[in-house]
Amino acid sequence: MILTSARLTLRPFRAGDAQAFAAYRSDPEVARYQGWDTPYPVEAAERMIAEMTDPAAPGWFQYAVDLDGALIGDIGVNTHENLMQADIGYTLAPAHQGRGLAFEAVGRVVRHLFEDRGLRRVSAECDARNERSVKLLKRLGFRQEGHRVENTWIKGEWTDDLLFGLLAKDFHAF
Ligand SMILES: CC(C)(COP(=O)(O)OP(=O)(O)OC[C@H]1O[C@@H](n2cnc3c(N)ncnc32)[C@H](O)[C@@H]1OP(=O)(O)O)[C@@H](O)C(=O)NCCC(=O)NCCS
Repeated sequence: MILTSARLTLRPFRAGDAQAFAAYRSDPEVARYQGWDTPYPVEAAERMIAEMTDPAAPGWFQYAVDLDGALIGDIGVNTHENLMQADIGYTLAPAHQGRGLAFEAVGRVVRHLFEDRGLRRVSAECDARNERSVKLLKRLGFRQEGHRVENTWIKGEWTDDLLFGLLAKDFHAF
């Protein structure tokens, strides 16, 4: 299962990606609003890659974001048991941010979920302070549906979460 966009390939992870995956996840700025601590161990990356199964089955699947053969990020899709909706998460290595590549990659995966897999709804959640993530979701057409105040205990503090959703009928492919 491989998806392509103007500049990127979205593909399953392979064993050789572990080093690059652990490297960008170990950047404190990348991990700032995420659930993992830094440094992110290569062994955890290897485990994640080894455990990946079918992208269309219930549970998490990570797409590798590949630019000219190099791993520059990942997009996680958590398909619900009902196979009709999913949650997404995404990360881009800092050197590749600010170029519209996350917009292109996440947009391509969302299009795949609606057009090829027939999902009805995609949801996303992010730290209310994560401005780049909020901007990305809004540019993709996600609607802000909620604000959960001090909902998550992470890295020693209570944080607010913003909830976003996009229905297939509201998605405009680009
Ligand atoms: C969230 C994240 C993926 C967003 O990445 P990003 O590169 O800012 O997102 P986009 O691809 O939408 O790029 C937008 C920027 O590229 C610029 N850009 C340049 N060329 C562009 C193009 N061809 N098309 C669109 N935007 C372009 C935009 O102007 C915008 O710049 P700005 O932020 O200065 O306004 C990234 O910040 C990240 O990985 N963060 C760490 C992990 C994380 O927090 N993940 C989210 C958890 S909820």
